[in-house]
Amino acid sequence: MIIAHTIEALEEAKKTLSGSIGFVPTMGALHQGHLSLIQQARKENDHLIVSIFVNPTQFLEGEDLDAYPRKDEADIKICELAKVDILFMPTVDVMYEEDELCIGAPVRRGYVLEGEKRPGHFDGMLQIVMKLLNLSAATRAYFGKKDAQQLALITQMVKNYFMDVTIVPCEIIRDEVGLALSSRNVYLQGDEKERALCLSRSLKRATKMVMTGELDVETIKTEMLEVLGEADRVEYVAIVDREFKALEKIKIGNTIILVAAWVGKPRLIDNLWI
Ligand code: PAF
Repeated sequence: MIIAHTIEALEEAKKTLSGSIGFVPTMGALHQGHLSLIQQARKENDHLIVSIFVNPTQFLEGEDLDAYPRKDEADIKICELAKVDILFMPTVDVMYEEDELCIGAPVRRGYVLEGEKRPGHFDGMLQIVMKLLNLSAATRAYFGKKDAQQLALITQMVKNYFMDVTIVPCEIIRDEVGLALSSRNVYLQGDEKERALCLSRSLKRATKMVMTGELDVETIKTEMLEVLGEADRVEYVAIVDREFKALEKIKIGNTIILVAAWVGKPRLIDNLWI
């Protein structure tokens, strides 16, 4: 595995590749969720590039940029074992210059839910993903459905900017008790891990309701909020179509149910695609 810290080193390393390139961008602190993206990308491509970069422009003032978990040594080992060809680990100076040209999230889809609660987050996220997709020259790039809105916006960016890469959506990976895996789960302490399960439980409750024929969004949301009572603060429960427009009735095959809630220190998100 080649570890590249600069654009020049990345370009040099890419000369050793021929054939399709799978790309998995990450912010490090790799867990089983990342590993499943990496393994899928490994299977479906001739070569595999992974990036680790904690992108400052997608953190808002007061968010956990400085405290964001960093585990470079362990991450490098994981990538080696997963047969990554190139691990790109740039510094902020490598990725950004002063007074940059910026791209922005679309005004509707980019400013509801996560975009409303974290204004500016998606601009920074799209900025870095555009750079990383260009640099990796990926054939396919892999993103988890857990960040459903991120996935939708990246797919839209690739379409709107005619970028030559296929975005591959990947299933949410959960631990044995149902908690959606996230690098921020390491912040959960004491009973918070148990209470954090209320997010996935609320989605299970919604699934059961839909399976028994309940399609009314307000009724489902009310029951979900009851289950979410174990969280410290619920930021939103939303039921939208794949375009992120609010729904009144569940549309089978075109619905995403999303939750965001604080449990202890971390703000957690989870969702369900119906
Ligand atoms: O999902 C993430 O880890 C980040 O948002 C990404 C896509 C690596 C961009 O920094």
